[in-house]
Amino acid sequence: MNTEVCERFGIEFPLFAFSHCRDVVAAVTNAGGFGVLGAVAYSPDRLEEELRWIDDHVHGRPYGVDVLVPGKIDKSAESGGGLDAMLAAIPDEHWTFLTGLFDKYDVPLPDFDKARRANARSGAQVTKKGATELIDVSLAHPIGLIASALGTPPPVMVDKAREAGVPVAALVGTAEHARRQVAAGADLIIAQGGEAGGHTGEISTMVLVPEVVDTVAPVPVLAAGGIATGRQMAAALALGASGVWCGSVWLTTEEAETSPAVKEKMLAATSRDTIRSRSRTGKPARQLRSAWTEEWEGPASPGPLGMPLQMIVAEGAMRQITKVAESGNPGARALANYFVGQCVGLMNTVKPARQVVYDMVEDFANAVERLNRVTGED
Ligand SMILES: Cc1cc2nc3c(=O)[nH]c(=O)nc-3n(C[C@H](O)[C@H](O)[C@H](O)COP(=O)(O)O)c2cc1C
Repeated sequence: MNTEVCERFGIEFPLFAFSHCRDVVAAVTNAGGFGVLGAVAYSPDRLEEELRWIDDHVHGRPYGVDVLVPGKIDKSAESGGGLDAMLAAIPDEHWTFLTGLFDKYDVPLPDFDKARRANARSGAQVTKKGATELIDVSLAHPIGLIASALGTPPPVMVDKAREAGVPVAALVGTAEHARRQVAAGADLIIAQGGEAGGHTGEISTMVLVPEVVDTVAPVPVLAAGGIATGRQMAAALALGASGVWCGSVWLTTEEAETSPAVKEKMLAATSRDTIRSRSRTGKPARQLRSAWTEEWEGPASPGPLGMPLQMIVAEGAMRQITKVAESGNPGARALANYFVGQCVGLMNTVKPARQVVYDMVEDFANAVERLNRVTGED
């Protein structure tokens, strides 16, 4: 294929794969696409290990890293008070609600004290200081792209990336955000519609992509949100995008980090089974609808906190829930969920990530052939 991003990034197919799983990143890159590792879940040391592994497995082919740098987070996280300040800002009623939830669903409680500290450390990754450490680790590797979401890339990220000669990408949910991202130095815009998995806005991909393409031209745009097939990829290019950026479709691949119980739920889910909820991170993020999302919306809920406090409350709990769900505990299975978009309804079989790439490319070619027949150019 031949689009602006294929040329610019040295790839065969304009298909970018966002994943927290290094195996998916390497598999997509090796299949001719462009894998992007989500760094937010990793400590700097762990990220270093993951990137070294990817370097060893992609044989010089291009891949990237995505760092979450939220524009706004709870003030306790940026107060300089470290983990203790964040933990002190979480009201007791949230821990009480959580303990009650484990009791109601008959799930053994995790060691909350230990989990609280571990989670506060991962919450620290979305502070400016935490994100900068991840950026430094990433730029010491031969990456072909650094991406950021949830706000304009901070000057430190743009400056350091420029110095290293690495293009900067930014995810946006509105045309206005796209304009700001380009002004802040983004070289590539990812227009992510509201049907996407993870943090997402409300405007659908079909409407957002042409708006963003027109707003930021000639800056190239990737379409994201709901894309899991080659037909949709063809539609995205028809809307003016130079390629696509997919996150959900990798979650049911053989390599994915998804736990078996959640993968099973995803394979059975329809496109109606997701919800935008603040219950995992404090910001609206699309995920599987489950007893967890329903309880946080219910009458007994104290309401989710802001980011990263809600991440600290939720992530240790979800780790325990996911682990216990594997043993067949019905309460844990009802609560278990993970971030995924509406295209979960199109994800019905487990395949290697490489095969997903090849299937999308074949489906794309068929779609283009169909369109050519429409215009009589076949
Ligand atoms: C499990 C999961 C985790 C995600 N985490 C991040 C993240 O840390 N940073 C980010 O920029 N985007 C994140 N996203 C959003 C993806 O980058 C991507 O834009 C989105 O998945 C595209 O829509 P789709 O899910 O319909 O393919 C995540 C998406 C999923 C499904």
